[in-house]
Amino acid sequence: MAILRCIECEEEYPLEKIRYRCECGALLEVVHDLAGLEVSRELFDSRLGSLKWPYISGVWRYKELIMPDIPNSQIVSRPEGNTNLYCSARISKYVNHDNLCLKHEGENPTGSFKDRGMTGGMTAAKMLGAKVVACASTGNTSASMAAYAAMAGMRAVVFIPEGKIAFGKLAQAIAYGARVIQIEGDFDDAMALVQEASVELGMYLLNSINPFRIEGQKAIGIEALQQMGWEAPDWFVLPGGNLGNSTALGKALMELNELGLIDKIPKIAVIQAEGANPFYEYFQSGFKGFHSMKADTLATAIKIGNPVSWRKLEAVMKWCKGTVDQVSEQEIVDAKAIVDGSGIGAEPASCATVAGVKKLVEKGIIQEDESVLGILTGNLLKDPDIVINYHQGKLAGLKSSYANKPVHIKPTLEEVRKVL
Ligand code: F0G
Repeated sequence: MAILRCIECEEEYPLEKIRYRCECGALLEVVHDLAGLEVSRELFDSRLGSLKWPYISGVWRYKELIMPDIPNSQIVSRPEGNTNLYCSARISKYVNHDNLCLKHEGENPTGSFKDRGMTGGMTAAKMLGAKVVACASTGNTSASMAAYAAMAGMRAVVFIPEGKIAFGKLAQAIAYGARVIQIEGDFDDAMALVQEASVELGMYLLNSINPFRIEGQKAIGIEALQQMGWEAPDWFVLPGGNLGNSTALGKALMELNELGLIDKIPKIAVIQAEGANPFYEYFQSGFKGFHSMKADTLATAIKIGNPVSWRKLEAVMKWCKGTVDQVSEQEIVDAKAIVDGSGIGAEPASCATVAGVKKLVEKGIIQEDESVLGILTGNLLKDPDIVINYHQGKLAGLKSSYANKPVHIKPTLEEVRKVL
């Protein structure tokens, strides 16, 4: 049986009661009885391509590692996952590294990696009898939660920073029927408010502070490894905002390692935007004193100055001997132009991954013979404004180095000839 355990004082709690933090205030994590689990590469491989519920999902294919005790009938799933790996000559050339694959989590049902954590969190919500679910969000979590809540017949309440989330994400939350509360403030203000409001008003909190979100989120790493024939890459590279995704990836790798399902421990590289880099600063300081900050970046998904999971991620980084780096706004938009122009496409925060790989290759931290699996976290269509503004040279203070500017012509063949 799995239990909840405090990451600081190790106090234990049952899974069946709603609780997000320990009495001591620290975060909780799900601890599985790994020795008692009957799992193998063969078991997971035998479910590949299965059309059987719930194993058709790229999360629940690994059910034993996610929520082993949950009856299948309780699972709320779209189904999610089953996202593809891409190797692109154009992107490899841009980052100056051949051995690079990108896993596109924008191919999830609501267009971001959040659906993996959400199927875990929403299944827990159902198990715990929740009627109303809530989250603060920079956009993708709210889009995902709104969709899953609608499917599960629950009310969804989302707290978003007013005017600061990408249009596609806001549209999704409204369309899926969530109660959308725009607050005067940033994501960190929304996160503080929703933690208080969920306790006071009896809403089940579905941010990544929720340990079941992390369990579902682990499946990115597990699925990626399965797609690579269980041969671990040297590096996983992904963007960091609230730091739930990188924490979950680390937890997955720790468990797979303990179970003997992987042969080596990959290093994790977490990439933050320069204007939203509290964990980068913490890493640089040798983990001496974490300081939150006022965040600012055009990659609004990761515009977070006080990430909830910094403490959990610290343990992960020490364990895998990974690294943390930061990328500028210019580096993010240029990497995005290349990712988009390669035909793959992703939202700005995702492209911090590619900008980060480029930087780590330049620095010699990622070495020539090392294999890299980068994670693209969200779909290109989430944030069309950035695309249009970049290609029209309208992003204030930034160069549009790879612009593909639309042209206007009179409707004559002669004019068409001129522009081709
Ligand atoms: N990429 C995208 C597209 C995101 O939406 C997020 C987080 C991240 C990266 C960072 O992941 O927070 O686990 O470190 N978006 C959250 C949201 C905060 O509300 O949708 P993280």
